[in-house]
Amino acid sequence: MIEFIKSLPKAELHLHIEGSLEPELMFELAKRNNVEIPFSSVEEVKKAYNFHNLQSFLDIYFQGANVLIHEQDFYDLTMAYLLKCKEDNVVHTEIFFDPQTHTDRGISFDTVINGIHRALKDGEKDLGISSKIIMCFLRHLSEEEAFKTLEMSLAHKDKIIGVGLDSSEVGHPPSKFERVFKKALEEGFLTVAHAGEEGPAEYIWEALDLLGVTRVDHGVRSLEDEKLVKRLKEEQIPLTVCPLSNIKLCVFDKLSDHNLKSLLDNGLMAMINSDDPSYFGGYLGENFIQCQKELDLGKDDLKKLAINSFKSSFLEEAEKDKWINKINNL
Ligand code: HPA
Ligand code: ZN
Repeated sequence: MIEFIKSLPKAELHLHIEGSLEPELMFELAKRNNVEIPFSSVEEVKKAYNFHNLQSFLDIYFQGANVLIHEQDFYDLTMAYLLKCKEDNVVHTEIFFDPQTHTDRGISFDTVINGIHRALKDGEKDLGISSKIIMCFLRHLSEEEAFKTLEMSLAHKDKIIGVGLDSSEVGHPPSKFERVFKKALEEGFLTVAHAGEEGPAEYIWEALDLLGVTRVDHGVRSLEDEKLVKRLKEEQIPLTVCPLSNIKLCVFDKLSDHNLKSLLDNGLMAMINSDDPSYFGGYLGENFIQCQKELDLGKDDLKKLAINSFKSSFLEEAEKDKWINKINNL
């Protein structure tokens, strides 16, 4: 099965590039940039990766990002992730970045986007991996801050396909960002949002109705609302599910309790993603391998998940069809 999983071309649609910062690179960048980090060894960092909810993770995730200063740092971070994609046969990736995590520390928007974008271009040329960039607003910050970030992004519209919403979900409903998403849509960006990870099904309704999202990130709590399931099924709205993330952040107790299979059985457009792989114990391949084992997924389930990843992507239809045909012929 591991070989079969490897052989499947896959697209990743829910990946925070800052969440792919491996402890080894964190140390290297801390040294290179003379930044103090509150850990003395890679083992100590790994030990700190024990989370009891989303917030306990975010505190460490924002701290880790402090070592990213120069354009080359963002390049190195992104290139390291692309090399993992290559190992896992991820042929297309749509990555999130959080500009505010960096601009709030005095790093310019241009430094961040240019480093990420240059690595993605090299990844396309040298590794054959296609990609898109999605800019996320931090939802624990204000609407006004999000508007300022949107303004900064306009000079880079050619590099950014869409906007998203991440960080602390509960208490920061999608409705808080209705106006800024309206502006983003008017500017031609696609929209997505994290909803229904820790927050209630109501937040998924808001993401759909107020933010005009084309995909829901996570969305695992949708099964709590029958009417919502009907809507998601009828419109085949993708749910970018992140199984290992959900276990690490205690959304489910253990992987065998995860509702991924039920989402598929309900006719929903779900697929597997890694979210913040350095922090959650595995890249996309590892998420597939562990889900296959714990949820008893057969080859047809795995093919469906890979096909759903392309169907739900922002690739051109011809590109989607090319990969879907390859999977169907396996
Ligand atoms: N949820 C919300 N915000 C995040 C996540 C997540 O899983 N990862 C990085 N920022
Ligand atoms: Zn996420």
